[in-house]
Amino acid sequence: MTNLSTKHLLGIKDLTADDINLILNTAENFKEVINRPIKKVPSLRDITIANLFFENSTRTKLSFELAEKRLSADVINFAASSSSVKKGETLIDTVNNILAMKVDMVVMRHPNPGAAVFLSKHIDAKIVNAGDGAHEHPTQALLDAFSIKEKLGSIKGKKIAIIGDILHSRVALSNIFCLQKLGAEVMVCGPTTLMPKYIHSLGVKVEHDLKKALEWCDVANMLRIQLERQDIKYFPSLREYTMLFGLNKDLLDSLTKKIVIMHPGPINRGVEITSDVADSDQSIILDQVENGVAVRMAVLFLLAGRA
Ligand code: CP
Repeated sequence: MTNLSTKHLLGIKDLTADDINLILNTAENFKEVINRPIKKVPSLRDITIANLFFENSTRTKLSFELAEKRLSADVINFAASSSSVKKGETLIDTVNNILAMKVDMVVMRHPNPGAAVFLSKHIDAKIVNAGDGAHEHPTQALLDAFSIKEKLGSIKGKKIAIIGDILHSRVALSNIFCLQKLGAEVMVCGPTTLMPKYIHSLGVKVEHDLKKALEWCDVANMLRIQLERQDIKYFPSLREYTMLFGLNKDLLDSLTKKIVIMHPGPINRGVEITSDVADSDQSIILDQVENGVAVRMAVLFLLAGRA
């Protein structure tokens, strides 16, 4: 198989296991490319890509831009905060004006769940979802899967615990879809108030005791509390959350096996994870960031039909 079964990357839910494996295998080649002295290939030199960010980002925005430049694409960047969106222009008008400048692909982050799907129904360009509200963040799940495979050799049969604010997390949902399609067992752990009502329908284990979750898993993916998406109080205080669901070195060292620690970033040090855990030799947090460039190169390359 050399082509994806989808025209866009809107969510992991739409991908087959073969699609995911194709992306991960292609990313292995690009990881080799970005570690060469000359890190650039001409694969997308006739393609123009617009990065549309309607919500803040550090890793995803820079990683996509770097991936596009490493593939020799022409790149334009759009930040809603400094655009005519502030004057009332709609999403469709904004994108159609950008497409009139002959853009082939659109990478979009948007605060509204479903924004990428909506766009794909109204414009001709290929769309990559770089995170839509609390819905999906497909390239984060792909880079997480790539990083687990790189560290543990395979994903099938591995036990992955996703810990924290599951309710507001697009990373959690995309990871659940991705890891299950690849044959992993997935557990979510956090306060009851931060679990979506539909969580049991996703076929994951649900745990509210952090120590039990850590003893069960091979990999712990620690998530940030998304205060910016919380319109009500879901727990009494951050201090109490940290006491019950924060990962510190004493807890990590008390486990009967050495587990792998992940975090999609941005980290709230001292809340969901302490600095000595985030920076420990069990953490692959910066490997995740490095792998993000290779994975996004693979996604853009395959969507452009260059395989
Ligand atoms: N992991 C992630 O999406 O980070 P950013 O919000 O900085 O892009």
